Amino acid sequence: MSLRKLAEERGFLIGAACNPDHLSAGEEEYESTLSGEFNITTAERQMKFAPVQPEQGVFKWGVTSKLTEFTQKHALKLRGHTLTWHHPAQLPNWLELEKRSRNEAIEIMREHIETVVNHFRGDVFWWDVVNEGLAEQGTMYREESPWYRAIGADYIEMAFRFAHHADPDCKLFYNDYEMDAVNDKSDRCHQMVKQLLDKDVPIHGIGLQGHIQLDRAPVIDSIAENIDRFGRLGLEVQFTEVDVWLPAEAGDEALQKQAEYYRDLVGVAVEADCCTAFVTWGVTDKYSWVPKFTDGKYGRALLFDENYHPKPAYHAVVEQLRG
Ligand code: XIL
Repeated sequence: MSLRKLAEERGFLIGAACNPDHLSAGEEEYESTLSGEFNITTAERQMKFAPVQPEQGVFKWGVTSKLTEFTQKHALKLRGHTLTWHHPAQLPNWLELEKRSRNEAIEIMREHIETVVNHFRGDVFWWDVVNEGLAEQGTMYREESPWYRAIGADYIEMAFRFAHHADPDCKLFYNDYEMDAVNDKSDRCHQMVKQLLDKDVPIHGIGLQGHIQLDRAPVIDSIAENIDRFGRLGLEVQFTEVDVWLPAEAGDEALQKQAEYYRDLVGVAVEADCCTAFVTWGVTDKYSWVPKFTDGKYGRALLFDENYHPKPAYHAVVEQLRG
């Protein structure tokens, strides 16, 4: 029994982000785990702005073709991630938004979004149109985002309209972190989405990233309540980047706690009618971004260990999907 099979029996999507560099790189377990255990994937980096448009007007699809060939071959669904993000590491050097006029910035954003969404039509069913556009605290939006600075808050609604124009069938998502539960940030997200819907902006879903430190994890009931309120706005909700981080010094008993958390989180996901997918941020602890991102303070965050062995968390998710 695989996660994939169990999920399919109940019409649910269970996924893992993929780094296409590992496909056909001679590591058979990577491919077989991804295709055998999961029915949805996304690119961990390769569909972001810089890798896709490294020079102005020059679009590179090479690595992503490996991914679409893989998803077609193994009948995995594909999420698109992401069209606009503030992070300097994925904005190409040529972009220099701070030197552009507002109209130039809008035109660059439009061209990028329309070209990319159009390219992946038929392969990608959900796009993270705007990633991490809300502030962590203090203000409504992330005002240091180069997109916000160049265009203003309405870059968000423009991005959704451009994406919808390029593929009217694609489900368009707003995606962010630390808004899994009811809190100040998810309140602001809710408010933003209501405003967008009032203006007939084509937004269809909310992506809860679900990067969770086990030692300060949000309360499960609050996550359920949060999903429910977005569902009541008529939106689809997906967990898009789940990993449950263990402190580096934690012993093996932490794997059990982690398993319980994964079990409960997947439980919330499958129980909410509006929630359609649960995607983890990687296939194996071997390649997880967490140790690098946290300077080694956290790790072991996924369902498979460094040797592709299923962890207690994997078995807990199996049990949950079995119902
Ligand atoms: C991360 C990737 O995992 C890294 O490999 C990359 O270097 C930086 O981005 N939120 C997001 C993801 O929306 O795109 C980030 O992914 C993790 C945090």
